[in-house]
Amino acid sequence: MSDEAMPVVSVLLDPDWASGSLVEDVRRGLGSHPLTLSPKWLYDDAGSELFDEITRLPEYYPFGAERAILEAHAGEIAEASGATTLVELGSGTSEKTRLLLDAFTEAGQLTRFAPVDVSEGTLREAADAIAQRYDGLEVEAVVGDFTLHLAHLPRGGRRMVAFLGGTIGNLYLEERRAFLGALADVLEPGDSVLLGTDLVKSADRLVAAYDDSAGVTAEFVLNSLRVLNRELGADFDLTSFSYIPFWDPHMERMDLRLRSETPQRVTIPGADLVLDLAMGAEIRIEISTKFRVSRIAAELETAGLAVSRVWTDPDGDFALTLATKP
Ligand code: SAH
Ligand code: TRP
Repeated sequence: MSDEAMPVVSVLLDPDWASGSLVEDVRRGLGSHPLTLSPKWLYDDAGSELFDEITRLPEYYPFGAERAILEAHAGEIAEASGATTLVELGSGTSEKTRLLLDAFTEAGQLTRFAPVDVSEGTLREAADAIAQRYDGLEVEAVVGDFTLHLAHLPRGGRRMVAFLGGTIGNLYLEERRAFLGALADVLEPGDSVLLGTDLVKSADRLVAAYDDSAGVTAEFVLNSLRVLNRELGADFDLTSFSYIPFWDPHMERMDLRLRSETPQRVTIPGADLVLDLAMGAEIRIEISTKFRVSRIAAELETAGLAVSRVWTDPDGDFALTLATKP
């Protein structure tokens, strides 16, 4: 491997989850009602692998729909953004991002790629693979939390920040507003955001996408309890929970929960917490909000970003929105 092919990796996260924000998150989320957990704890190494499996499930249409948009429009996106640095938040394996990297490098305008993710192992692997494949591209990876570390994004050049996979839908409304505002604040005039959002559709297809017949999604959601057992010495009995995904038509979001099938006491020593769960008690592990194009545009505009283009796949399942900081 030549020197140029070595990504630079900055680690902004505390390497020891249990001494960091996991404890605060768990105290806040499981110490009050309704019981909730923060989605970033789904993505330890095992969780990242399970998510990768989810993206290949026939029922999980968002991955293919977003890829179809990128296949059709990556060239236009590169041109419209005029970016020389591509930043990617919640990058994971950056699999679909290669379509953007191909289009940007073909246009001869890209000098730098900066993927940001909490999942260090997955991020390092993806950064290495991309540095190998795109000769001369500077790869500056950031192990960080996009709800905390936006001020530390690489600066300079004209930047486009891609936030794909519908991950913004995993934030609650207030978190989403804070996130978009903070993102708009750290951008320079001319920088842009490429936002991937899943769109409202029939409840049947939505529920199937989050309740696959192979049970991979249930395993992914249950893995969050495994993280608490390992990191905080908790004693969740994974076999006593069932996975309950449902569509909330009022909030227009999938609500993904685990339900205790027995009355049980769970101790979480690392968070100094004892949970008494009644039979049927539910813990909300994650939400996945679905959008309408008009609402995405309104939220971006409220944050101070000007929407310039919106692309959808032929079936109208998913949208990519490009917005610029004026
Ligand atoms: N962008 C990829 C992966 C989406 S899965 C795709 O479209 O397929 C969501 C990714 O976001 C995971 O890799 C997860 O580790 C990361 N993630 C979740 N919460 C995060 C946070 N708060 N900060 C940074 N990364 C986060
Ligand atoms: N951002 C993805 C989504 O909301 C994350 C995801 C996919 C997910 N499948 C999941 C989260 C299952 C929890 C459970 O679609």
